[in-house]
Amino acid sequence: MNGNQTIMEADALTKIYRRGSEEIAAVNGVSLHIDKGDFVSIIGPSGSGKTTLVNLLGCLDNPSSGILHLGERPIFGKGKPLSERELTKIRREVFGYIFQNFYLIPTLTVLENVMLPLTFYDKRGRSDDASRLLKILGIDHRKDHLPGEISGGEMQRVAIARAMVNEPQILLADEPTGNLDTKRSMEIVETLKDLNKREGLTVIMVTHNQVLAANAKRTFEMRDGQICELERTAFT
Ligand SMILES: Nc1ncnc2c1ncn2[C@@H]1O[C@H](COP(=O)(O)OP(=O)(O)OP(=O)(O)O)[C@@H](O)[C@H]1O
Ligand SMILES: [Mg+2]
Repeated sequence: MNGNQTIMEADALTKIYRRGSEEIAAVNGVSLHIDKGDFVSIIGPSGSGKTTLVNLLGCLDNPSSGILHLGERPIFGKGKPLSERELTKIRREVFGYIFQNFYLIPTLTVLENVMLPLTFYDKRGRSDDASRLLKILGIDHRKDHLPGEISGGEMQRVAIARAMVNEPQILLADEPTGNLDTKRSMEIVETLKDLNKREGLTVIMVTHNQVLAANAKRTFEMRDGQICELERTAFT
């Protein structure tokens, strides 16, 4: 075994939006190959298609054309299309998502927010898992607070904990550092690096920030719906 196991492969993935008579190729022929345990960052200007691509990779949206595999398994574009039920199962079991505007439910405590993805599971014993994650992320002491009672950086870490509670194989993080200052942003990226190293989690992170992106093992740049891989950086 060479140790490199393909976890995701996209081939000419394309998403076209139609607005009236206008067509926008938000993602235009993106091919990429991601190994288990990779830490990938995606940079690029606003409107270049980063969120659209991440939604396709995360099976949250159907491509207009192109192929997506998770491991050996064809998801889009090859073989029989998956049912909505099968896609839901994949979304729950394979992925953790941190959305661009991470949504915490204001009336639920930190712990309850983190346990939200477990709604459809047997929850017995799982609050221990959620508490363990809060400890790893350093927000254990905030678990009974409401989102309105914690800082922006802490909210971001709650969003990470929530994305991790299903023990996903792949974490998709769309601007996980949002409007945080440099120091807090770096802390979030260090947290993701730590999960990548310790748990072998595959991370795909979208960011506007080149300095943060440089922390990834591999960096891709998007422009006008197309992607190219920049030089690999030394990963520390
Ligand atoms: N649902 C939609 N309908 C029509 N056009 C859309 C839709 N979603 C996105 N677009 C367009 O597709 C292009 C790519 O958008 P996308 O949100 O993927 O960009 P982005 O790189 O994530 O930008 P940002 O950095 O601002 O988050 C943009 O031109 C956008 O206006
Ligand atoms: Mg976006």
